[in-house]
Amino acid sequence: MEKIKRLGVLTSGGDAPGMNAAVRAVARTALSCGIDCIGIRRGWQGLINADFVQLTRASVGHLLSRGGTILYTARSEEFMTEAGREKAVTTCKMLGLDGVVAIGGDGTFRGALELSRLGVPVVGVPATIDNDVGCTNYTIGFDSACNTAIECIDKLRDTMQSHERCSVVEVMGRNAGFLALYVGTAVGATAVLVPEHKLNFEEDVIERIRASRLAGYTHFMIVVAEGAGKATDIGEKIHEALGIKPTITIIGHIQRGGAPTGRDRETATRMGYSAVMAFVEGRGNSIIATQEGGIVEIPIEEALTMKKHLQMDRYKIMEIMQFGSHE
Ligand code: F6P
Repeated sequence: MEKIKRLGVLTSGGDAPGMNAAVRAVARTALSCGIDCIGIRRGWQGLINADFVQLTRASVGHLLSRGGTILYTARSEEFMTEAGREKAVTTCKMLGLDGVVAIGGDGTFRGALELSRLGVPVVGVPATIDNDVGCTNYTIGFDSACNTAIECIDKLRDTMQSHERCSVVEVMGRNAGFLALYVGTAVGATAVLVPEHKLNFEEDVIERIRASRLAGYTHFMIVVAEGAGKATDIGEKIHEALGIKPTITIIGHIQRGGAPTGRDRETATRMGYSAVMAFVEGRGNSIIATQEGGIVEIPIEEALTMKKHLQMDRYKIMEIMQFGSHE
């Protein structure tokens, strides 16, 4: 087994709090093993354009608490083409990269698979606020995004309560409802709409608001995952059915920013470390994942076929807190 001399690290896709902590962990672990670490800027596009920066122990200092990614991120169309990927391989050869650590979500890992097929070993580190990567229980950034959304909704609730209003809040998550369910449970939402649960509007929303009103409540919080519908449409339907006009809040990109939580800093550190150790110990072409609390490595190809389902038992618990029946 040849000794690894130099590794690249990049962040790609939507940013997530904790990406910087992962970059720091990759760089410091590599350097502690006598391996050079090159930061590739702007994701896969940076590998095409040879857009890089040498990382040192000092240059990745003060990163644990910083949101976003100092390496910038992008969604590269060029990397989807064969010609683009060939250019990326040329950059790897030119810089003498023995492997690349790619920090991102499923889209990033599809790129990782393609690059590994061209002979550049890649290890993926899952980071996305959506928590929708099939092979891992947890993705870096999820906890921070949940906490940001919860903080926003708690503030919103104060004014909703004073004015006795109904509020529809849209959170991110792409096609998954992990963020919405977690946040909805944590803020005690009247109803939570997720793409994984087929909606019966009358039962799942209208009846819940009604039950809440009959129990004496005068303000209502509806949380909707962006993949389950538009907050504005939901608001219209509530207006039509109940005659109350909800306020609409789309939390948007705010939930992707801010300092990472302790959980994200700690997970990012362990995952970044494990990614480098996978290379050092002669493995590669895998995704670092958390399963049952521990870190595992899963071959990229297999990882991309794995599915993760929204925990419907958790959905049920959220419903029971809000007048759901225990059936
Ligand atoms: O994947 C992270 C995410 O924030 C999704 O929740 C959201 O649908 C998407 O990215 C938004 O992407 P963009 O920042 O390109 O608008």
